[in-house]
This record gives sequence, structure tokens and C-alpha cells, in this order.
Amino acid sequence: MESAAPALFSLRDASKRFSNGTLALEGMSLDCGEHEFISFLGPSGCGKSTALRLIAGLTDLSSGQLDWHGAADRTAGNRDLGFVFQEPTLMPWARVFDNVWLPLKLIGVKRAEADPVVRQALEMVGLSRFAEVYPRELSGGMKMRVSIARALVTRPRLLLLDEPFAALDEMTRIKLNNDLLAIWREHRFSVVFVTHSVYESVYLSSRIVVMAPRPGRVIEEIRIDEPYPRGEAFRTSTRYNTHCTAVSQALQGGLHGVDIDH
Ligand SMILES: Nc1ncnc2c1ncn2[C@@H]1O[C@H](COP(=O)(O)OP(=O)(O)OP(=O)(O)O)[C@@H](O)[C@H]1O
Ligand SMILES: [Mg+2]
Repeated sequence: MESAAPALFSLRDASKRFSNGTLALEGMSLDCGEHEFISFLGPSGCGKSTALRLIAGLTDLSSGQLDWHGAADRTAGNRDLGFVFQEPTLMPWARVFDNVWLPLKLIGVKRAEADPVVRQALEMVGLSRFAEVYPRELSGGMKMRVSIARALVTRPRLLLLDEPFAALDEMTRIKLNNDLLAIWREHRFSVVFVTHSVYESVYLSSRIVVMAPRPGRVIEEIRIDEPYPRGEAFRTSTRYNTHCTAVSQALQGGLHGVDIDH
């Protein structure tokens, strides 16, 4: 049976219980299609990172199912998947070029062959002129750009980002939001983006998965049915504000009855 919009992956009733007994995620279901921009939004401990790691194959499901469509196996080492962590996790002793080359090097692509591909990835994130510098010479925002270039150098169909901009100042974050949207629109991969920020999730996403803790679970899925490109006009619009209010209310509904002790 063929569906109208073929999904990239489907998560069915996925749960994760850690060996210490913590139920980090309970009964999560999600279909991700081609060229979607999905955000996982929720407070600390609601299982956002756990869900992302399950999708990446970095951790196993305790129950439920993860199906990839059009491929048998897509694990973390697979070229079809890029992962960006909250910290840029760059190798400090290696130049920017070598940091971005790493995923290709690991699958046996030699420097000369990788060269144009690495340079193209650096160009995507606006760092063409920085290939030969060391991470310590870069600002926080630039390090994050390198981390995104490294995740995209294999041209994955899915990019997973775990609170990539949380440590950045507001202006840098807005700039990176805009640049990420531009790259996404041009290269047409799908994104799953983890954030604490209602504003960031509404600005970026075509769909927001609102989550709640104890146990970590999905409480609502909200579509942000607004056209791209999105820019300052959207960010300052009444419609943007209306979406933010609706998403905040969904989030607060999920916290109802949960003790806040941190
Ligand atoms: N390896 C682990 N072993 C035991 N418990 C874990 C482990 N990793 C996460 N947890 C617990 O699972 C729950 C969900 O954690 P997770 O890191 O997925 O939340 P999160 O939504 O990403 O939170 P944050 O916003 O703080 O990053 C939390 O209660 C956390 O303490
Ligand atoms: Mg997390």
C-alpha cells in the first residue's frame, strides 16, 4: 500500500526505560516525511534527547518500533543521518577542514577526494574562509556552524539537532536560525530539532511535537502552517504571536500536575 507522502521514518509506540528504572519515554509515535522541519519541544527531562538518540540508533528501544522507509538499516554510522549536539564537540587539535572531513574519513574517503565536498559543506554554513583555522580561533556561533557542516558533509536525508543553539547569545541564535532554514530549504533534507524555546520552535518548524515529563511523552502535535521563507516579517507578526501563545498553552497543559523540583 502506498501513502501519498512517503514517510522517511516512523516511530510506533516507542518507549525507553533505562536500566535504573527511569521511564524516559513512553509510547511515542511519529511519522517524519521528506523535507519536514519537526521540533521536539518540552521542559528538561521530558525525553527529547532520548527520542532523538532512539531515532539516530544511538540507543535501543525498550519497546515499540522504528521503521525506515526505503532503507533496511540506518544507524548512527549511516551516511543518511547527521547529528548535531548541544556542544559543538570539535577536535581542538584539528583544523576546521579536518573536523568537517572526519565523517567521510571514517568511511574511507581520502583527503583529495573529500576536498571539494568539505569545502562545499563549509560554504553552506558561510565558513569558506576558515578551513585552515583551529576551533579555538572561532566564536561559539562559528563552532556550531562547523558542527553543522560536519553533520551535513555526507549529505544526509535527515539532520538531527539537540539544542544546538541553546548556549548562544540571542543575536547569534537568530542568525543561525535563519541560516539553518536557508540551508534546509536549499538542500531539502528533513530536520528533527530539539529545543526548550517556544519562540524558536514556532519560528523554525512546520510541526512541533510538544512533550511533557514523568514519564517523558508526547502531549500534542501542532502544525505551524506558515509559508517559508520566514524572516523578520514573520517573527514580528501577529500570527507568529498567536502560534507562540497556543504552543505555550499546550506546554503548560502538559506541566499541570507535575511537581517542579528542579
Ligand atoms: N542514560 C540514562 N540513564 C538513566 N536515566 C536517564 C539516562 N538518560 C536520560 N535519563 C533520564 O531520562 C529522562 C529523560 O531524559 P532526556 O535526557 O531524554 O530529557 P531531555 O528532554 O532531553 O532533557 P533536557 O532538556 O534537560 O536535555 C530524564 O529523567 C533523565 O534523567
Ligand atoms: Mg536533552
